[in-house]
Amino acid sequence: MAKISTNSIHGHGHRDGYGSHIPPIYPGVIYEYVDIERGLAVLVDRGNYLRYGREENPTTRALERVIAGLEGTEDSLAFNSGMAAISTALLSYLKPGDRVVLPMELYSSTFALLNNISVKLGVEVVKVWPSAEAVVNSVDGRTSMIFVETITNPTNKVIDVRYICENVDLSKVVFVVDSTFTTPILLRPARYGARLVIHSMTKYFSGHNDVVGGVIAGGGEDVLSLWDWRRMLGGILQPFESYLILRGLKTLEVRFERQSNNAKVVAEYLAEHPRVECVMYPGLSKDPNNSVARKLFERPLFGGVVSFRLRGSYDDVLRFMGGLRLIKRCPSLGGVESMAVIPSKAASMFIDPEHRLLLGITDNLVRLSVGLEDVDDLVEDLSQALNF
Ligand SMILES: Cc1ncc(COP(=O)(O)O)c(C=O)c1O
Repeated sequence: MAKISTNSIHGHGHRDGYGSHIPPIYPGVIYEYVDIERGLAVLVDRGNYLRYGREENPTTRALERVIAGLEGTEDSLAFNSGMAAISTALLSYLKPGDRVVLPMELYSSTFALLNNISVKLGVEVVKVWPSAEAVVNSVDGRTSMIFVETITNPTNKVIDVRYICENVDLSKVVFVVDSTFTTPILLRPARYGARLVIHSMTKYFSGHNDVVGGVIAGGGEDVLSLWDWRRMLGGILQPFESYLILRGLKTLEVRFERQSNNAKVVAEYLAEHPRVECVMYPGLSKDPNNSVARKLFERPLFGGVVSFRLRGSYDDVLRFMGGLRLIKRCPSLGGVESMAVIPSKAASMFIDPEHRLLLGITDNLVRLSVGLEDVDDLVEDLSQALNF
């Protein structure tokens, strides 16, 4: 299997008569029938016919080949957002009477969707403490799906995906892993037995805060069945966006490495600062998630997201946020620009209030997504903003 960077550059396999190695942007929505009577156009490699833009697109297909190579799966399917990927996966696999086990700390819109699905489809949603052990202990004979994120947002708990694979009978349970925070640089969950691996490509994959996209990687049969759902629900990623993500992926490894290294410096700086109560970053040796992260991740890198609790009131947090000059006050993560957000006032508002309290998502918690700027400039910005 080709290594990550090689795959992210060459894995699309595109060659054409001009000798170009860059997959072109195919804006075409219609493809002429080869078999006029049966309405069949060109057969593409998934076994489907390229005939209409809601079903397949050659640029998107090139991206899907790269991602399957990165995740080590047979295939992948690209969507016009991370949520389109997640909703398609949930709708295609869940049916009335099913039971889903998931950590109580999960991306807000995934929670909102699951809450709605639970009411509309009669699916039981069981929310447990964000740890692999708690997930495994909550699986019973009725459980049909486990859904986890590899690093939880915003408190940065590492979920030991491998432990779940080794301790649950995955022939009976669909194990879905949202691997957005770790990327294939740190973890390839399908290696251990995860059935579907999902990414919000809006984050590290595209990396430049200029595309919304999502993807599901998995086995050929699963992807083919999801393809049918994508066609019905209409969530295919469009060709220009596919091109941008193909381009972004070529630098995924160098970006992720630099962001992780910058984040570690930022976390270490914050951990020593008198105005900071605690730092949550699995790359810190004192962090309770450090040992599981070191065991699970393929490299000693820990991603670009650092959370910390400020010593002080909510007004102090507002003063700190207001004082930032370089770091942008924005949601999202994984892009080249560093960003800061107050989770309790943003995405984490949708985590159950009693769970928020248990998890320590308080009003003085700040989440940073550390970007590619010079780390000295980032530390200087934090330093002056903490001097309120
Ligand atoms: C872990 C995770 N999964 C899924 C999503 C949803 O992705 P998108 O915004 O691309 O729909 C997000 C968005 O922030 C996320 O952080």
